[in-house]
Amino acid sequence: MVQAKSWTLAKHFDGFPKDSDFHLKVEELPEPRDGEVLLESVFLSVDPYMRPYSRSRMKEGDVMIGTQVAKVIQSKNPAFPVGSHVVSSYGWRTHAVSDGTDLTPIMPSWPQDVSLSLALGTVGMPGLTALYGIEEVLALQKGETLLVNAAAGAVGSVVGQIAKIKGCKVVGSAGSDAKVAYLKELGFDEAFNYKTVSSLDEALKKASPDGYDCLFENVGGHFSTVALQHMKNFGRIAVCGSISVYNDATPQTGPYPHLMIIFKQLKMEGFLQSRWAHKHPESLKRLMAWVKEGKLQHREHVTKGFENMPAAFMGMLQGENTGKAVIAA
Ligand SMILES: NC(=O)c1ccc[n+]([C@@H]2O[C@H](COP(=O)([O-])OP(=O)(O)OC[C@H]3O[C@@H](n4cnc5c(N)ncnc54)[C@H](OP(=O)(O)O)[C@@H]3O)[C@@H](O)[C@H]2O)c1
Repeated sequence: MVQAKSWTLAKHFDGFPKDSDFHLKVEELPEPRDGEVLLESVFLSVDPYMRPYSRSRMKEGDVMIGTQVAKVIQSKNPAFPVGSHVVSSYGWRTHAVSDGTDLTPIMPSWPQDVSLSLALGTVGMPGLTALYGIEEVLALQKGETLLVNAAAGAVGSVVGQIAKIKGCKVVGSAGSDAKVAYLKELGFDEAFNYKTVSSLDEALKKASPDGYDCLFENVGGHFSTVALQHMKNFGRIAVCGSISVYNDATPQTGPYPHLMIIFKQLKMEGFLQSRWAHKHPESLKRLMAWVKEGKLQHREHVTKGFENMPAAFMGMLQGENTGKAVIAA
């Protein structure tokens, strides 16, 4: 018997999440039966999607959704020996019993000197999102200029670096001067703090007077409205996220982008990384190769302690993280 902790959604978020929306539950888990394993979380992920999905995919009392890197601590399934690591989608839990069908083993060639936490970030879902947005949605070409917002985060920091690998000019925006300095370290050509520039319009014009071929959209809302005005004719926009509206209690309204899209003949496509799940194993190998070659740098914002997950989640939504926000259990 193991004592398992989980964070449940006590109350649907109304506006920005608060401590009382979460409940810490403790329960005894049964021993794994034949074919099953007992998992213990090692690293847990907090991601923006948890905010909108909490409304569309969860009811009050459910365990918070999410992925984690877990270690097999008991096994009655030969495919998952004790001591091996997996990525699981069991959400905000310290322990879980699984029959293995919904587990993804960490790639066998995972280098010893690379933290397994990267399986939740640069060599995980956010890295895949960056890769597919650039290659499958934007089909970014050498010499083009790309704009990415929330650029110092898990997805954005990978977007900018892959665009540099592809020989593009990259402009990024982020919410602090320290993040802007980090973007320069990563090789971004231009970066600015969207919270302190006197005019977003001017900042976008200054960073690329000729405009932008591509926009990797993570933020939406007002930023998007202004950025569309700086797209070149026939520009492409990959709509990956819209974090600036996730906590709105009342939906934002206009200005509406359609005239701008028509006059500039823009192409805008929303996407979910899961569309290319069949490519994940190969894509993760490519991301790992870039990490090993030093072409893909990574930073993490690590919160220690499972009890601190709600704080880590709310902190990420407020921009406390540079790079991927993870919890070390
Ligand atoms: N389509 C997909 O399959 C997919 C997959 C993964 C992620 N996403 C989306 O990609 C985006 C980035 O996700 P991530 O995991 O990489 O998160 P992240 O960037 O690591 O963390 C979220 C960041 O968003 C920024 N932010 C928060 N509120 C903002 C606002 N009002 N305006 C501008 N920026 C704001 C904060 O940075 P600042 O300090 O810069 O404000 C914060 O650090 C999200 O929109 C997410 O939903 C989509």
